[in-house]
Amino acid sequence: MAEEYTYRDSHKALDKGEVYDGNYERIPWRRFLWSREQKILLSILEKYFEGRDTHLLDFACGTGRITGLLEDRVKTSTAVDVSPSMLAVARTKLKRTEIIEADITTDNVLKGRKFNLITAFRFFVNAEPSLRSQAMTTLAGLLSEDGLLVFNNHHNLGSPWIKVANWRHRQKDPDGIFNVMGIKQMNELVEAVGLEIKELYPIGFFHPPKIPVSYFFNIAVDAVAGRFQCLKRLSESPIAVCTRRRSHTISGQPKGGT
Ligand SMILES: C[S@@+](CC[C@H](N)C(=O)[O-])C[C@H]1O[C@@H](n2cnc3c(N)ncnc32)[C@H](O)[C@@H]1O
Repeated sequence: MAEEYTYRDSHKALDKGEVYDGNYERIPWRRFLWSREQKILLSILEKYFEGRDTHLLDFACGTGRITGLLEDRVKTSTAVDVSPSMLAVARTKLKRTEIIEADITTDNVLKGRKFNLITAFRFFVNAEPSLRSQAMTTLAGLLSEDGLLVFNNHHNLGSPWIKVANWRHRQKDPDGIFNVMGIKQMNELVEAVGLEIKELYPIGFFHPPKIPVSYFFNIAVDAVAGRFQCLKRLSESPIAVCTRRRSHTISGQPKGGT
């Protein structure tokens, strides 16, 4: 019987780490997204962690893109991934991060530890539904009471470009994999484990297929569109900042209601 596909195995090919990192140099859209992501991550750090000891867990860290940006700005830095080839590249970049090769959704080697900043980029939308919820449950268990989970969804179904890409993919290759996730699903995913989306940072409003768009034009479009609350749902790759739901226990004291 054929083994069922799981996203866990998606990045295990020997050259995957090199290819993945190369895409960030080769593909202009990826470069643009990454420049926006860096700015937003640094502003989140400033807004929520100024003057606090930050203990970072970068889940599904891959080649260490996110970890590399943050490791020098936090007190402790831990990164986990299941792919040896992705981690081989991460090891060449990361200098003060504890790098762990493990699948913490099935073997939680971090159990008992707590992190006040957990990042998970380019993971949730790619993962199959069971892995999405297993990972979210595991991460919620590792998040400290006052911690933040920051994750992105680079195929937001609210984006018109992703709608088109999704439709085209279904026409061309109905059995292939092209995962998408709407904001509603992002909310449901975190709410199922007692978290809530506190802020949503929109990224990437203008991505017509096969038409080269300049970096500066995209920056300008994001700057204008990002100002309107009602347009946030249309961005292609939003970042969600999540906290524990307010009605949930904080510091052992039930909040709200009697
Ligand atoms: C698209 S890469 C993203 C890497 C990095 N977060 C980034 O944004 O550049 C997705 C990563 O998820 C990892 N992954 C998949 N399933 C996983 C699991 N169960 N636990 C940890 N990592 C996993 C893959 O090995 C891969 O490195």
